[in-house]
Amino acid sequence: MKISLTVDREKCKKCTSCIAECPFDLINEDKEGFPQLRKAAVKKCIRCGHCMAVCSADALDITISPLAASLLVNKDLLPSTDTVQHFLLSRRSIRSYKKRRADHDTLAQALDVTRYAPSAHNGQPVHWIMVEDPAEVKKLAGMVVEWMRELKVFPGLIRAWDQGEDKVLRGAPHLAITHADPGKSEHPVEDCTLATCYLDLSLHSHGLGSCWAGFLVQAFQHYQPIIDALALPENHKVYTALMLGYPKFRYRHIPQRDDVKVRWK
Ligand SMILES: Cc1cc2nc3c(=O)[nH]c(=O)nc-3n(C[C@H](O)[C@H](O)[C@H](O)COP(=O)(O)O)c2cc1C
Repeated sequence: MKISLTVDREKCKKCTSCIAECPFDLINEDKEGFPQLRKAAVKKCIRCGHCMAVCSADALDITISPLAASLLVNKDLLPSTDTVQHFLLSRRSIRSYKKRRADHDTLAQALDVTRYAPSAHNGQPVHWIMVEDPAEVKKLAGMVVEWMRELKVFPGLIRAWDQGEDKVLRGAPHLAITHADPGKSEHPVEDCTLATCYLDLSLHSHGLGSCWAGFLVQAFQHYQPIIDALALPENHKVYTALMLGYPKFRYRHIPQRDDVKVRWK
């Protein structure tokens, strides 16, 4: 898309916030002190939309993130520090799930906020596979066990599976997997991890539980049959996965964690 910046000169207060906030210094002042886009923006703009979004006077519009399509930040909807802290502390990795499935719209809503996770250069390289069908989740868990069986590792998990208990994906009804093309992102691990953290927390806000599926991700790194089963686009790799569903049990307490390891300087 062709990039261009429009400045409403009636509204612009020349406060320079758009100039200060542009990550690549792509905006400067014209002769009259109004912001203008530098030519370099054609190649260097990362489409973050910060110039439009930071303007307190709604004076800026930019083609790559139109003002009319932008939500206003609603201070009344922002939680207090106490609320956020308690929310973060109360998220747990969930390993027992109800059979009840989450409805499609709830999953779609939880997933939608991941678009706002930070990504290197605002590259937004993260792709998702949301496995809604519990039978498909079970099939993937079975393939992880087959991989473990071939390698002769994790005998306890294999034994449990053979006795009808899924200790790999914990009988979760759903599974979210991230994948990306490492050739198209400088930091696919970080980008996928951050998007997954957003989903983890977003699910928590919907009363859903989740748990990082480490065994599954390991299998995706090494076991061709499970890689083939996902039919990823060319060059894409799997980076993270979350098993998810409604928690069977509610956590009453917040467990202890180590003190923060920090050196203040
Ligand atoms: C990268 C990563 C991989 C993980 N893999 C698994 C896994 O395969 N199975 C599992 O039950 N938990 C897994 N976990 C969950 C951790 O065990 C859990 O986060 C930790 O015990 C702390 O518990 P909490 O998340 O409830 O605070 C994983 C966590 C991370 C960050």
